Amino acid sequence: MKKLSMKALTPTQIVTELDKYIIGQTEAKRAVAIALRNRWRRQQVSTELREEILPNNIILIGPTGVGKTEIARRLAKLAEAPFIKVEASKFTEVGYVGRDVESMIRDLADSAVNMVKSEKTAEVQSKAQELAEEKILDLLIPPVKRTARPAEVETNDENSEAYQNQKTREWMKQKLKNGELDDKMVEFDANAQNAIGMQVLGPFGLDDLGINFQEIMGNLMPKKKKKRKTTISEARVILTQDEAQKLIDMEAVQREAIARVENSGIVFIDEIDKVAGGGKGQGPDVSREGVQRDLLPIVEGSNVNTKYGAVKTDHVLFIASGAFHVSKPSDLIPELQGRFPIRVELKSLTQDDFVKILTTPQNALLKQYNALLETEGVNLEFTPDAIREIARIASEVNEQVENIGARRLHTILTTLLDEILFDVPDKIPSDKVKITARVVKQKLDSIVKDRDLSKFIL
Ligand SMILES: Nc1ncnc2c1ncn2[C@@H]1O[C@H](COP(=O)(O)OP(=O)(O)OP(=O)(O)O)[C@@H](O)[C@H]1O
Ligand SMILES: [Mg+2]
Repeated sequence: MKKLSMKALTPTQIVTELDKYIIGQTEAKRAVAIALRNRWRRQQVSTELREEILPNNIILIGPTGVGKTEIARRLAKLAEAPFIKVEASKFTEVGYVGRDVESMIRDLADSAVNMVKSEKTAEVQSKAQELAEEKILDLLIPPVKRTARPAEVETNDENSEAYQNQKTREWMKQKLKNGELDDKMVEFDANAQNAIGMQVLGPFGLDDLGINFQEIMGNLMPKKKKKRKTTISEARVILTQDEAQKLIDMEAVQREAIARVENSGIVFIDEIDKVAGGGKGQGPDVSREGVQRDLLPIVEGSNVNTKYGAVKTDHVLFIASGAFHVSKPSDLIPELQGRFPIRVELKSLTQDDFVKILTTPQNALLKQYNALLETEGVNLEFTPDAIREIARIASEVNEQVENIGARRLHTILTTLLDEILFDVPDKIPSDKVKITARVVKQKLDSIVKDRDLSKFIL
């Protein structure tokens, strides 16, 4: 069997990577790290026993905005695994207006195909560019018909048409490579993009049946060519795409995508608590339990038909998450509980956590604003006491109004920086802008004190 391109990070390495983006929540990081590594370990086990080993599906329990989704998303990214996030509650709609549960695996397969396809495209990119350039050259200087005068082509006679043609092509190619011809217009045949009309059929559920309608139609109809007239620089992009398409074996892409979904796919099921029925009997509980029953075979392992072929879900990793304020994991049907053996609680974030979240992650909010304003030549500086003040206000508003976790930092920063973001560059020319604790207080204190106001603004 072909070795899968699954990154084999050790649990320690995984946690170290997650630490770059997520503050605290050590227990949750450890749990996902073990689950991921166990899947890799499982693949090394001999075949008979391998099938017996169940994936370590996880339930992340914790209030909103403390990093549940972020952990799963980062995990998928660093494992280079196909990933999809779904809301369990969207499957509850009475009368099944919502999508059927299997659609999550189809979406996962779609994302895997895109992933593999863009990898393969990157691999053939320079080849495709080369071919596209030749095509453009053909448009500019049509090649000599070789068959017409075979004798002449063979010769190196400097006066021969073929020789001259070759010379001109080389000269032109250089100009083309230097971008000197970029604005010149050319007319050429491009592959027509997927017929847009097909989209209309989507909602009728053909996609949900796992039928690739487009492919069926595509095979029935001759490949359409479309005349286009663009600048050379645009033609280069279009033709490179066309050539890349031709170089990629889509069947191999789909096969690899399915293998990746089966062996390294991660499904994140958000708001699982919303389908955990509190009581028994009638009412919405029935449809909630229905969703759980529908989820069960997929989580337990079954074959789901996708337009790329059947996908076995036995070893897909499922990470569920929920606040579980009202219901408990024990309110889930027992079979489903059994399939999510690992439960981890995420902690509420403290003021100190907020200070770190603002400053340390690679994508820290303050770094983001810094980068934004740097593009205008403005240097934005936050003093340490200003950062502490922002963190303190975030905690206070979370306590008094509603606890939305780290998301509070976003709302506070947009309010705090609103004027600066508006005034740059007109009123504040390129310069240094310093935010001190005093500035923070001035701007935010009155809003924080006025509960009604903070409800709306922060
Ligand atoms: N511990 C953390 N460290 C760094 N950033 C965090 C942390 N927790 C949350 N954030 C940031 O807050 C935002 C919301 O986090 P996330 O989406 O993970 O929330 P959640 O726990 O999934 O909440 P919900 O239950 O509402 O889905 C993200 O932008 C994330 O970067
Ligand atoms: Mg979330």
